[in-house]
Amino acid sequence: MKVIMLGAPGAGKGTQAKKIANKYGVPHVSTGDILRANVKGGTELGSKAKGFMDQGLLVPDDLVVDMLIDRLGQDDASKGYVLDGFPRTIPQAEALDAALVKIGEKVDYAINVEVPDEDIVRRMSGRRACPNCGGTYHVVHIPTKVEGVCDACGGELVLRDDDKPETVKKRLGVYHEQTKPLIDYYTKQGLLVTVDGTKDTDKVFEDIEGFLR
Ligand code: AP5
Repeated sequence: MKVIMLGAPGAGKGTQAKKIANKYGVPHVSTGDILRANVKGGTELGSKAKGFMDQGLLVPDDLVVDMLIDRLGQDDASKGYVLDGFPRTIPQAEALDAALVKIGEKVDYAINVEVPDEDIVRRMSGRRACPNCGGTYHVVHIPTKVEGVCDACGGELVLRDDDKPETVKKRLGVYHEQTKPLIDYYTKQGLLVTVDGTKDTDKVFEDIEGFLR
């Protein structure tokens, strides 16, 4: 099963992608997580990507496409995956389609998690992320057992640099301009399903499962 998650920054793509990955036994592939790991590890890719990420801009397609196609070639992705944060532009979607056509495969579902812009900034300022294991929480909606400490690995939670309100507004602008056209792209392919991302996380997942069944 090959699933793509679409939606504005903070719509809940990562939260739902992890649930899908757990339930269906496929890897959760987040380009944001891979890029952040490269920044943390001080790689050449990380140093090129950091400036774009800190400003709320997209990392250039040529850097991201090679990184993603390489990740999808790993053994654990042979039976499918949930892509979170990729594609982000029409050229990225076309590159993914071309890579899949070469091996006689295609995307099965593009899930659009819909949340109005006005909810996004509020949601992002409450997000807390674990730099160790990638766990994601929310101070009100999805609190940890111990404040500021990751339930999964005990790591110290942080507010991501790009979750500050001014950067979130910039990311939303970039989303509307460069990523939202993918909704039409996948609608035309008959692959798009839209869920209401303002509901409780378990209810959003139930709605997604209804489509994947
Ligand atoms: P990335 O990490 O992909 O960020 P994003 O798409 O902006 O998405 P987020 O991770 O911010 O949000 P999400 O939708 O996953 O929401 P989450 O589940 O965490 O990318 C970061 C940067 O990397 C980009 O800006 C760009 O620079 C670069 N990049 C990455 N991919 C790229 C690409 N393909 N091309 C170019 N550049 C790329 O939820 C958000 C919060 O809400 C959490 O606190 C969560 O707990 C809470 N929450 C979730 N669901 C609910 C709910 N139903 N109700 C209440 N709260 C909820």
